[in-house]
Amino acid sequence: MANSQTGDSVIDRLVRVLATFDSEHTEQSPSDIARRAGLPLSTGHRLVGDLVESGLLERDEDGQARVGMRLWELATRGSLALGLRQAALPAMERVQALVRQHTQLGVADGDQVLFLERLSHPQAGANITRIAGRLPLHASSSGLVLLAAAPPAVLERILAAPLERLAPETITDPAALRRKLAEVRRLGHAIAPGSIEAVSTGIAVPLRDRGVVVAALGVVLPRGEEDDRVATILRAAAGEIEAALAAPSRSSTILVTFKS
Ligand code: PHB
Repeated sequence: MANSQTGDSVIDRLVRVLATFDSEHTEQSPSDIARRAGLPLSTGHRLVGDLVESGLLERDEDGQARVGMRLWELATRGSLALGLRQAALPAMERVQALVRQHTQLGVADGDQVLFLERLSHPQAGANITRIAGRLPLHASSSGLVLLAAAPPAVLERILAAPLERLAPETITDPAALRRKLAEVRRLGHAIAPGSIEAVSTGIAVPLRDRGVVVAALGVVLPRGEEDDRVATILRAAAGEIEAALAAPSRSSTILVTFKS
């Protein structure tokens, strides 16, 4: 693959262009894309043009670019994440009908939870989770569940690095985080009050495929509305999803991607 003067390949540059699109930047001018991707203006304009040509990006009448349906189509088709989401959705809908707040499904990716699905009630409380959005492993309830099952080398690396404080109650002390993870393993669920935002509490359980924790199923509730029944509801739903994942006709959904 041809490299630029700085040594990055065309693929690197394309990924940087695509990665400038996030929930705060869904529509951008080619110049903004170039600047946010750290590319010379002319390179940015050319790459955006090529991506529009291929349908991976789309351009509106004002020349603003956004992610194209073709990119969504190619990324979603045959993805392991899609299989996991499909297996989880019926049970997630049952959880959502009971809790009437937020129900979400996340997987570990790097040192974060990447959310594959979120169901929300119109009158539900605060929740910063976005589909295809990320939260730190140590701060969210889903992340704590995944971290509690992470390989020891991954856990030690995360404990050795500074633990970012997102809210007053985020656990940032490594010894306290170790104790929290021991609690998660003992209880079989994580409860994270005020850890992401002071106003909400996350509760999550692990989802296993063939004995391996592959995802976390969680709910987000307004602070003060925590209810002991939620963990029981989540555990029952996890059992249903695990049964769906174990069906002989299904291939494995093991997509655990911790960086060691
Ligand atoms: C959580 O999983 O703990 C969580 C996620 C998003 C929020 C609050 C809590 O907004």
